[in-house]
Amino acid sequence: MKTMNHVRFLVASILVALSSLAHAGGNAEAGKAASLVCATCHGQDGATGIDPSYPNLAGQGELYLSRQLEMILSGERPVALMAGQLNGKSPQDLADLAAYYASLPGKPGQAAGDDDSIELAEKIFRGGIGGKRVAACGACHGPTGMGNALAGFPGIAGQSDAYTIAQLVAYREGERTTDESFGGMMRDVAHGLTDGEIKALADYLKRMH
Ligand code: HEC
Ligand code: HEC
Repeated sequence: MKTMNHVRFLVASILVALSSLAHAGGNAEAGKAASLVCATCHGQDGATGIDPSYPNLAGQGELYLSRQLEMILSGERPVALMAGQLNGKSPQDLADLAAYYASLPGKPGQAAGDDDSIELAEKIFRGGIGGKRVAACGACHGPTGMGNALAGFPGIAGQSDAYTIAQLVAYREGERTTDESFGGMMRDVAHGLTDGEIKALADYLKRMH
């Protein structure tokens, strides 16, 4: 079983490496000009959305962002609120937007949660949950949750807690399938998480920086 996971991880890593080769880098200046419409929801700084459940984009990995934008445009990741926002954009336009948001400074984390939940979340983040096939978050998202930009693993530190909860639930229920090219690894991880564990992780990640 362990070996299977390793093989899947290896295959996924190779796929990711290949897809990053296929991605031309974006132009942050061009992306900035195109981001005015995005700011109405995601904030001028990319981090202060008009609703606390909107994701923080500032400082997120460029490869991750451009892949999500492609999937939102194609409908592979349905985001009702963003319907129409990306219509008519070329792959280069999406890469430019991704480069712009990746270039913005990330927002520092905010205090959230109580000591017990932080302790539980820290344990899962660093060690996973043996027996439930929940792998340590830090193994992929980095010891400080900043992600791995080259591999396309998103940063999850300093993220809106409501957004993190919604994503983990969506992976768990199989509603978010954007991890397909990664061998479904986030759905595998989220599968073993309870609502309480997800809430604790979201509080912990929100204040991590
Ligand atoms: C009307 C509000 C609205 C507008 C305008 C909008 N977004 Fe979004 N965006 C959202 C919401 C809400 C989500 C989270 C959806 C979810 O829960 O999956 C999101 C998600 C995203 C994500 C995925 C983030 C992640 O961590 O996976 C990216 C990238 C993004 N938006 C970029 C943009 C860009 C670029 C624009 C402008 C072209 C834009 N958005 C315009 C509301 C908006
Ligand atoms: C084996 C590697 C791996 C492990 C372990 C892992 N993740 Fe992920 N995670 C990913 C990848 C890859 C993505 C992006 C997948 C996609 O495009 O949907 C992701 C996406 C996410 C997202 C969505 C980010 C966004 O901006 O929408 C969240 C939240 C997340 N992971 C949280 C966690 C938590 C919490 C844990 C630990 C319980 C964890 N991950 C463990 C690889 C991993």
